[in-house]
Amino acid sequence: MRPAQAPVLDALAGIIAGLAVDRPLDESVVFALDSLRVAIGAEEAAVWLTYDGALVRTWDVGVAALTLDDVSAAAHAPPANAPVAVATIPTGNGAPGRLAVRCARPVDADGRLLITAVANLLAPALVHADRNHRLEVEVEERTAAIDRERRFMDRIIDSMPVGLYVIDRDYRIQAWNRKREAGMQGVSRDEAIGRTIFEVLHRQPAEMLRREFDDVFATGRIQEYQMESVATGELRTYRISKIPMRLGDSGVTHVITIGEDITDWREAQTRFAHAEKLAAIGQLAAGVMHEINNPLATIAAIAESLAFKIDDARKAGAVLSPDIPEYLTIIDNEVARCKQIVDGLLDFSRPKQPLRERVDINEVIERTLMLLKHHVRFKRLPLERDLDQGVPRVPRASGEQLVQVFMALLLNAMDAMTDRPGKVVVRTRRGRSPSECVIAEVVDQGAGIPRSELGKIFEPFYTTKEAGKGTGLGLSICYGIVQDHGGRLEVESAVGVGSTFRVVLPGVEE
Ligand SMILES: Nc1ncnc2c1ncn2[C@@H]1O[C@H](COP(=O)(O)OP(=O)(O)OP(=O)(O)O)[C@@H](O)[C@H]1O
Ligand SMILES: [Mg+2]
Repeated sequence: MRPAQAPVLDALAGIIAGLAVDRPLDESVVFALDSLRVAIGAEEAAVWLTYDGALVRTWDVGVAALTLDDVSAAAHAPPANAPVAVATIPTGNGAPGRLAVRCARPVDADGRLLITAVANLLAPALVHADRNHRLEVEVEERTAAIDRERRFMDRIIDSMPVGLYVIDRDYRIQAWNRKREAGMQGVSRDEAIGRTIFEVLHRQPAEMLRREFDDVFATGRIQEYQMESVATGELRTYRISKIPMRLGDSGVTHVITIGEDITDWREAQTRFAHAEKLAAIGQLAAGVMHEINNPLATIAAIAESLAFKIDDARKAGAVLSPDIPEYLTIIDNEVARCKQIVDGLLDFSRPKQPLRERVDINEVIERTLMLLKHHVRFKRLPLERDLDQGVPRVPRASGEQLVQVFMALLLNAMDAMTDRPGKVVVRTRRGRSPSECVIAEVVDQGAGIPRSELGKIFEPFYTTKEAGKGTGLGLSICYGIVQDHGGRLEVESAVGVGSTFRVVLPGVEE
């Protein structure tokens, strides 16, 4: 070994010994650089790690600031003259490193040897540290991306106007959206996630729930059904869909349940179906009316002339069975009843009266009450008026038709209160929006209507009144008229308490 190399070897030995001490990477690098600087008599020493041309990390020791430019320039300059000496740190991947020192005088061959040796010594630790650092950054970025994706998905399912939850094969809840938090059986997400659906929806029979989910797990097909709930305080109808979800290629791993409030949709459907039915009846009625009216007129005329003939025969001394006049009366009554039904049906088929008047609903009600004043039974009925004189007028209306509506509603109220104490209240008030501006209610304390029958009362020919008393056309005609006026006819009723029929019409401010 040449004696000139002894200081270099000593310095190297010192650096190796120093690096063998267990200390953090940063301290080790600074120690090695400082030892190198002293051994060479350099002003400063520094290490750069770059990756794809970008600087990822530096360590430096000294006073002046060695820049990446200095280092790059030195890497290409002839080594003997450059004030900056550079050695490559072998990284074996895309992160080349450089170790540089700056001296007042050019670095000699021994010095360059030492620099290269230190660069090689530091390389494994630096490469390792760099890889760790890059892994950490990558993990952070991916976690952030997953977080963003998750928040995005959560936002999507929270924005949907449906209740949504997902369970896995153990019936444990894996997702629970905002609507479910406020929904039918409002449970917070934190409370729901991870628990079984049976614990959370404890009000629903567990066996039934399990059967529904098992069905989807087994068949892999979407199951749909409707259910009613009063959990929100009023009766609402929900369409429940159970949708299979597969995480891998195998069978169903999760079931997504979506609950959609279809109350308004169902009501609209019912209204639509009802309107269609009325239109169909109108057409049918127009067709048969003529055919029925003529024979009815013939029967009535023949019954009448029979009565005359019987009278004549009596006067001529003939002895006749007393049943005969009675039979004639029955024929007469029945013909009258048929005519009543025919007239009712005519209301559906008659060309619609033009709706051109601007009508004051209070005036319509007063006119109706005036007409009813002469009705024998209605006269005895306690009646209370609660009419808001500030109610706007109905813009395009027919006073005649609206009188017909209130007449039918008030007669029904009277019928419902036969043999019952209590009163009927007729009320008007202003609604909330222009399309629902005029509200008129007929409230009775009569027998009430069972919930199961509520859907039927607007059907033509639905009646609970004894034969000859009602045709069952009153409410269906009212319904059609109010609808033609751009309004709605609603009912609320409780058996034994009474009923409220509400006419909601558009209004116009004068
Ligand atoms: N205020 C009410 N209280 C209780 N039940 C009612 C009331 N109004 C209507 N109903 C029920 O709805 C049915 C249908 O009423 P609707 O007015 O259409 O026919 P109706 O009164 O039976 O016969 P009509 O064609 O002569 O009016 C009634 O038979 C009755 O069962
Ligand atoms: Mg009626």
